[in-house]
Amino acid sequence: MKQQLENIRQQALSALDSASSPEALEELRVRLLGKKGELTTVLKQMGKLSPEERPVMGQLANSVRAAIEEKLEQRKADIHAAVLEAKLKAEAVDVTIPGEAVALGHQHPMNMVLQEIKDIFIGMGYQVIDGPEVELASYNFTRLNIEEGHPSRDRSDTFYFTDDDSVLLRTQTSPMQIRAMENTQPPICILAPGRVYRKDEADATHSPMFHQIEGLVVAENVTMGDLKGALITMIRRLYRDDAVIRFRPHHFPFTEPSCETDMRCHKCHGTGEVDGQVCSTCHGEGWIEILGAGMVHPDVLRGCGIDPEKYSGFAFGIGLERMAMSRLRINDLRLIFDNDIRFLNQF
Ligand code: PHE
Repeated sequence: MKQQLENIRQQALSALDSASSPEALEELRVRLLGKKGELTTVLKQMGKLSPEERPVMGQLANSVRAAIEEKLEQRKADIHAAVLEAKLKAEAVDVTIPGEAVALGHQHPMNMVLQEIKDIFIGMGYQVIDGPEVELASYNFTRLNIEEGHPSRDRSDTFYFTDDDSVLLRTQTSPMQIRAMENTQPPICILAPGRVYRKDEADATHSPMFHQIEGLVVAENVTMGDLKGALITMIRRLYRDDAVIRFRPHHFPFTEPSCETDMRCHKCHGTGEVDGQVCSTCHGEGWIEILGAGMVHPDVLRGCGIDPEKYSGFAFGIGLERMAMSRLRINDLRLIFDNDIRFLNQF
């Protein structure tokens, strides 16, 4: 029996040493120490021993069991550590690898130019205001001195909502002049950018939806010189002196006198020709109209409750797309609305 026990100890310890997984260990534990295990089977034969031998064998059996149990625990710990280490190695994350950069977009080129123009006018003391695109005909036309039957009121030019032509998509930002003046006494100094709509075919310089920036200054002793000063300051700051403009007499029903301002075409540099062809950006004109302006008509002031004997004012309406085209050297207005990433990425 002594030999049997020693064999069990030896074989058990070497089997445990070569077991390499928690499952293999558990299998060994059952085979060695379980109710039907090898050790138990030997101990069942204790009854056959003499009373002198019994305690000696009992002690030996206990030490064999203790040795196996100890080895079992030790191997359990070893294997657990090995499994953990393998797992850590397999799942290792290198926190020093640089992250993947998120692709950030940027402002639309037209909004970049709008922001520049706003900044320039804010620097001159203007307050930026916002107003409705769905407008009353009375604000868009009537109170701006544009009487019934005027060609610009024609259904072929204007998007109307109602059969009586009283509600429309504003065709200009000038109704913001009325909205600014009807509730406020001078001094008034506002800038009102926004979308406007006309039934235009799209070409290199036209689109049925475009943007204007309305400006209005009303106070005592405001003159045409102040108007030219404000516009020239804006152009100089925006183009850093790199622009040629001209003021040309014009007519608007709501300003008197009135003018239009042109910029020399950035594509053909005023010649009207590119490579022997008519310049497509300015249609051969050599100039691009960028804004309309003038001194606010006395009737318009009076209609808003402002005394034209005491106050005078100027107003202007800038075409934002045309400004953006010359500021960023874009040759075709449609590019601004196409949303082609290859175009947008250039700015
Ligand atoms: N609203 C005019 C247009 O759309 C421009 C303008 C604005 C003219 C202000 C005079 C004063 O053409």
